[in-house]
Amino acid sequence: MAEKRAQQKILVIHGPNLNMLGRREPEIYGHQTLEEINNALQARAEQLGLRVETFQSNHEGEMVDRIQQADDVFDGIIINPAAYTHTSVAIRDALSMIAIPIVEIHLSNINKRESFRHTSLIADIATARISGFRAQGYQLALEGLAQLLSVVP
Ligand code: DQA
Repeated sequence: MAEKRAQQKILVIHGPNLNMLGRREPEIYGHQTLEEINNALQARAEQLGLRVETFQSNHEGEMVDRIQQADDVFDGIIINPAAYTHTSVAIRDALSMIAIPIVEIHLSNINKRESFRHTSLIADIATARISGFRAQGYQLALEGLAQLLSVVP
């Protein structure tokens, strides 16, 4: 009989200004707060048999530190780098170093917005991307990642 695998762990990283969700441009990002999004993620993770840890920072270097520490500890990352999506070579480089699957997520559809948001510096190193489903996208990202992780190579 196959050995039961240890519970898989997912790190969810929220970038700058996402702590303001609920109050921040709700016509673009929706009305849900970050706390509500994180609580919903925890609930779904429990149903899926996963563990989720969430982290938010307004600081690029703190996000880099967290990514560097993730490789040996987590089985996958869901990341919304927010504005750093479009500017941060440092976050791209940190994500490039780790071997676990990465899901890029955006609440809004970044390709439908201003042209400076059309470029994602992590798009070509992410395993998958979800963009435009607002808060619901986090649930979809978790479900997608759970499926990816359950596939036996
Ligand atoms: C965002 C899109 C970014 O362009 C923006 O800077 C954000 C949030 C999104 O989730 O839609 O802060 O990543």
